Amino acid sequence: LLRWIMNSFWNERMENKEFSKLNKNIEVDVAIIGGGLAGISTAYYLSKNGLKVAVLEKEKLCYCTTGGSTGKITSQHGIIYKYLKDINGRDYSKKYYEANEDALNNIQKIIKEENINCDFEIKNAYVYTEVEKEVQSIKQEIECTKKLDIKSEFVSKIDLPIDILGAIKFENQAQFDPVKYTYGLANCVEKNGGKIFEKSKVIDVVEDGGKYNISTKEGSVRAKYLVIATRYPIIKFPGYYFIKMYQSTSYALIVDTHTDLDFDGYYINQEAPKFSFRTVKDGDRNLLLVVGYDYKTGTEIVGNPFEYLKAKVKKMYPESEVLKTWTAEDCISLDKIPYIGDFSDIMENCYVATGFNKWGITSSNIAANIIKDKILGIENKYEHLFESSRLGIIKNEDEMMNMLKEAGEGIILERIKGKPTPTCTHLGCKLSWNPIEEIWECSCHGSKFSKRGIVIEGPAVKNLD
Ligand code: FES
Repeated sequence: LLRWIMNSFWNERMENKEFSKLNKNIEVDVAIIGGGLAGISTAYYLSKNGLKVAVLEKEKLCYCTTGGSTGKITSQHGIIYKYLKDINGRDYSKKYYEANEDALNNIQKIIKEENINCDFEIKNAYVYTEVEKEVQSIKQEIECTKKLDIKSEFVSKIDLPIDILGAIKFENQAQFDPVKYTYGLANCVEKNGGKIFEKSKVIDVVEDGGKYNISTKEGSVRAKYLVIATRYPIIKFPGYYFIKMYQSTSYALIVDTHTDLDFDGYYINQEAPKFSFRTVKDGDRNLLLVVGYDYKTGTEIVGNPFEYLKAKVKKMYPESEVLKTWTAEDCISLDKIPYIGDFSDIMENCYVATGFNKWGITSSNIAANIIKDKILGIENKYEHLFESSRLGIIKNEDEMMNMLKEAGEGIILERIKGKPTPTCTHLGCKLSWNPIEEIWECSCHGSKFSKRGIVIEGPAVKNLD
């Protein structure tokens, strides 16, 4: 079932690659929970620096967030620089850009040095609009980037067969196959003496004598340092990430357009519904990856978003044929900035990387470097940008109230009515039925369960009764 739901185009190509299951007790320097890009990148840097690492993945590497991603490596995270400047000031906005540009360069350097075959290509990044009222936002973003010495350009034409009203272009960005890249890094981790375990779901984390004991069903890892890189942190208290984030699901299609696709870039629109486009190498041909129609997980889905996406592509490429579909889930922080660094003030030597807001490729590299530096006792110039204990997020009162209201309603419902079925095993919110994927979803923090109640996506870790 998990394979059916999670298997993206990228994952399918790596189906035969397997890592063993943890079946004994081991001790290492750093235990990392989560075998996606953030976890494996952290393992890569730490193992390269001589530390003994072990990665615990509950299913298969990349089968969740990384496998569902678009593989865009960019500092252009939608229209964001004006927003960041308005909430946190000019220096912050500029540093955020530099952190992501550094990440892009780091990834490119790793691919070269480690000789990772992952279809890496330099591309331009575009945010475009088809509606008049968003032209102004694009122009304001360009104005802002200019003031920050960020190179950008207004263009009125792109390689997609749609009539746009304008776009902001960032040059020299990149794209790759995120799963091939992560497996390439995983091979390096093993070469550096690190351990990677699949089908090794963590069932308990206990602090004991200044170290962490992390248990799975058939073994355990003892380590001084713990990194939680599970997209949504699996530990509820302390940390309280459930009041600082929600989850969003997007729909994805791989399409053979039966035309020669040759774009100079990749694209996302500014307005809703969202559409994101890029080419994907498949042997000699280029396929089209289309992602969009995202919604807050657990809220009502109107119609069939897969069909809406197909209709959009059909209009652009009448001969197009859909080869594969999947959905992808992402964590959205309340201020659109990731949480990276100390997991909580009261859990020493425990680190987190989450809330990547759908731009997790560069954020994973930033996170891996910040966490590596924290463990090695090195100062990282970007660490203060992403501090997970920041209080500024409370400024986003609307989202905060929404989240508390939903969580409260869910819990109250359970207490008052006794046993409405089904309720989420994370914090007891009511679940709603997703008729498209035929699964249960929780609108509080985005857990997903199969028809039979098996956890598909966290933060819930317990199946339904
Ligand atoms: Fe938190 Fe359901 S995911 S209550």
